[in-house]
Amino acid sequence: MEKKITRIGVMGTLRGATYAGLFKNLDGSVLTAVCDFNPRSLENVKGILDETIAVFDNFDDFIESGLFDAVVLCNYFCEHVPFAIRAMEKGIHVLSECTPALTMAECVALCRTVEKTGCKYMLAENYPFFACNMEMKRRYETGNFGKALYCEGEYNHPVTPHDKNMLSPGKLHWRNWLPRSYYLTHALAPILFITGNSLKSVNCKCVFAPETLKGTACRVGDLAAIMLCEMEDGSLARVTGCAAWGGHGNWYRICSEKGNMENVRGTLGEVRIQYNGWNVPEGEPEVQIVPARWYEDDEMNAMPGNAGHGGGDFWVAYHFLKYINEDIEPFFTVYRAVSMSATAILALRSSQNGGKEYKIPDFRNEEERKLWENDNDSPFPDDNGDASMACCSHPDFMPTEEDFAQAEKEWKEAGLIR
Ligand SMILES: NC(=O)c1ccc[n+]([C@@H]2O[C@H](COP(=O)([O-])OP(=O)(O)OC[C@H]3O[C@@H](n4cnc5c(N)ncnc54)[C@H](O)[C@@H]3O)[C@@H](O)[C@H]2O)c1
Repeated sequence: MEKKITRIGVMGTLRGATYAGLFKNLDGSVLTAVCDFNPRSLENVKGILDETIAVFDNFDDFIESGLFDAVVLCNYFCEHVPFAIRAMEKGIHVLSECTPALTMAECVALCRTVEKTGCKYMLAENYPFFACNMEMKRRYETGNFGKALYCEGEYNHPVTPHDKNMLSPGKLHWRNWLPRSYYLTHALAPILFITGNSLKSVNCKCVFAPETLKGTACRVGDLAAIMLCEMEDGSLARVTGCAAWGGHGNWYRICSEKGNMENVRGTLGEVRIQYNGWNVPEGEPEVQIVPARWYEDDEMNAMPGNAGHGGGDFWVAYHFLKYINEDIEPFFTVYRAVSMSATAILALRSSQNGGKEYKIPDFRNEEERKLWENDNDSPFPDDNGDASMACCSHPDFMPTEEDFAQAEKEWKEAGLIR
């Protein structure tokens, strides 16, 4: 049988430059087009472009070009769903950056479009594919630990006010309006991946510390969203979304009936394992620290090389091609993707309502979808800077005029805005 080769188009060439490079070189794909309206961003793919790769400066021409079977959406965080829907309505498969959706209505619309078009949709969530998380998943699936009871997922990414400004050019840039709970997939997805659990409900409170954001145009005065997620099987997970307090890093912990596992703090390459003294499997020590591997098999384990985000970027591209070319369903289907979006959205509402509990709908169930199909409340602004709900746990928070002026000065100095 002839080997299937998928033609790939990449939308957005900041983050997207990584996927453009991966799909250009992976077995089973060919990069045929890239799109970005910012010439400065296109500089990032200059080194890999050749005469076989078309360059577009607008989504309309790009999506109508007929040059690709699948698109990688690395455009603005707050515009993934409209672009994903337009692509799938043209029969184009979608790999979408995080987060999948901004509103409950978008979650519903995304599922319905996947079902209606029969296109394949996968979330490009890369953190579950750190070696430590794949090691924990393999070990969890042996059954040696019993059922997971309590998990923790922490994604901590502090940046200086200057770096924050460089990443968020313009008062309306999505990073200036990003509720802390909305960037939760890097903390939550690894837990779902390791345990196979599904989300049932969420409560959230935020740590409000606006003084750390002086000199930026950030409308979110929260430094972290702390979410307590209940799973369908009754277990609990505490996740941070994107926290920004001191000390960069990721930390994942799976506490189970017979023992627990966690990546050793400060590294993605080692896992600490501890069993109850009376539950130690034959041939294993009670406590050990093991080097983390993506796969036991040497050949598979060598595949990511030094790919970005601890090899996670490679495995996202790999699984997407397995889905398109071999029909092997990935873990992060549209349903798992939107259940995380719904958790983010409802967590923000919880943080604004004293930590109230919200149930996460089952997005496979049309009756439940109907309840949310018209819920369009979004914390992100329209072109006039108006949003239908606040993006912070303290709805009245606003940067000062001096903060805006400082941010504007830095954007101009860096040539990011005119
Ligand atoms: N998974 C990860 O590790 C990871 C890392 C970084 C970013 N991301 C995600 O990637 C996405 C993009 O983030 P980013 O860091 O690249 O920054 P960004 O959102 O500022 O940049 C988006 C790029 O897309 C281009 N773009 C946006 N809309 C366009 C349009 N309509 N037509 C043409 N070009 C358009 C912009 O010019 C820009 O170059 C976000 O969703 C972000 O969350 C994920």
